Amino acid sequence: MGYTIGVDIGTSGTKSLLIDPDGNILAEASASYDVSMPKPLWSEQNPEDWWTATVKTIRAVVKQARAKPADVKAIGLSGQMHGSVFLDKSGKVIRPALLWNDQRTAAECDEITHLAGGRDQLIRMVANPALTGFTAPKILWLRNKEPKRFDRLKHVLLPKDEIRRRLTGELATEVSDASGMLLLDVRRRRWSTDLLSKLQLDKSMLGQVYESEQVTGSLRPEIATKLGLTTDCVVVGGAGDCAAGAIGNGIVRKGILTASLGTSGVMFVHSDEPQYDKRGRLHTFCHADNGKWHMMGVTLSAAGSLQWFVENVCKELATRRGADPYQTLNSEALSVPPGSQGLLFAPYLSGERTPHADASARACFVGLTAAHERGHMARAVMEGVAMSLRESLEIIKQLGVPVREMRLSGGGAKSNLWKQIFADVMDQSACTINAEQGPAYGVALLAAVGCGQYKNIEEACKATIEVVKKTPPKKSAVRTYDRLFPVYQSLYSSLSESFAALSQF
Ligand code: XUL
Repeated sequence: MGYTIGVDIGTSGTKSLLIDPDGNILAEASASYDVSMPKPLWSEQNPEDWWTATVKTIRAVVKQARAKPADVKAIGLSGQMHGSVFLDKSGKVIRPALLWNDQRTAAECDEITHLAGGRDQLIRMVANPALTGFTAPKILWLRNKEPKRFDRLKHVLLPKDEIRRRLTGELATEVSDASGMLLLDVRRRRWSTDLLSKLQLDKSMLGQVYESEQVTGSLRPEIATKLGLTTDCVVVGGAGDCAAGAIGNGIVRKGILTASLGTSGVMFVHSDEPQYDKRGRLHTFCHADNGKWHMMGVTLSAAGSLQWFVENVCKELATRRGADPYQTLNSEALSVPPGSQGLLFAPYLSGERTPHADASARACFVGLTAAHERGHMARAVMEGVAMSLRESLEIIKQLGVPVREMRLSGGGAKSNLWKQIFADVMDQSACTINAEQGPAYGVALLAAVGCGQYKNIEEACKATIEVVKKTPPKKSAVRTYDRLFPVYQSLYSSLSESFAALSQF
């Protein structure tokens, strides 16, 4: 038997799953942890929490599947992108990691753009503009704001790559996640020595770059024992959660888009070439499909917006015993007509990335009247997130990228109502596939390729992934959303000055 394990180190928790060679999921486990927000728009986590959750969930799936240690051939790692794990020379974590949705680095983004010789030059070197969530500005922030800690800095790793280091002892990464550090020459799939020297950062600080299905090392003896596995178990490159989720949705060729509704929301398309949006609104990163690229737009607070609404605005629902607060809100929102009777929500709870790369953007409800109830607000949150992601879809279409099929994934896709809203806002059927686990499933497949069970990731996806449900758009709702979308789009331009002023308080 050749089993593989996929681990996804997410923002709200870590999920692991174990699959057999045919791609059947035999066991799943998850463990959650918190995000710390020491200041507005700061977002941090302790890598130790990821490690504890990884060990716990791997042990749990091995036990649940009753797998013999030698039967688990490979592990694939996926994780939240862009986070900065700062390590000293003895491998100690210097400070909590800054996460993908941390917005403290606006000044460092300007500094990087300046040092690179301007925005166009920067895009030429690393395919993307400097955005606050990316890793390079975090390194400069440490140099500027915590110089004593920076003096101790020896290595910077991404979240899943820190877990790799603890599993295998190797300092390594892979092309898809490395793209989001803003230090990778995305076209050539290797570190940009050009940009590193302009930023006066040493390449030795970064891990070796692999393709996603390549073997990067094997389990250290004491870790193999701890996990109930053997030292023959290898760890493959894996992927950042967006590329991993796309693999887990079978996005290994042009024409299919995956819309993921996790804490963040992502519209992701495959590309045979490193294609750019000249205005830098979409990210161009290496795909986990060897030798391919992808483009994506990111809404920072997608399902995270609904979670915020439940936990902060509907606290009594979140603490009520028995009833699931999301189901309660879902049924209230279901009785509200499309368009929420003129109530709009802009989901800029953590600032925004696509299409408005603006750390000081603020979320808002616009259009409230005394007749609006909680169900309207819940529906407006779901609609606002869908419209924000439609902005990415519009840019993808403007660039001439074909979108023949849309596959929906992530926690938010479990809601039939949200799925319908997506189909209606995008005027395209929302398809769901047989495996719902996105990133963890994607890297379990990459692990299966890495240990020779499939020739390549296309073959693995073809053998294991199929569309099982299509939610078609409803014409009358499509018409409503088409009228509402320009109003939604105008919110940002009308309010951006107010957002900037509010961020001073
Ligand atoms: C992608 C991004 C987020 C995180 C969330 O660019 O920032 O999707 O990866 O996990």
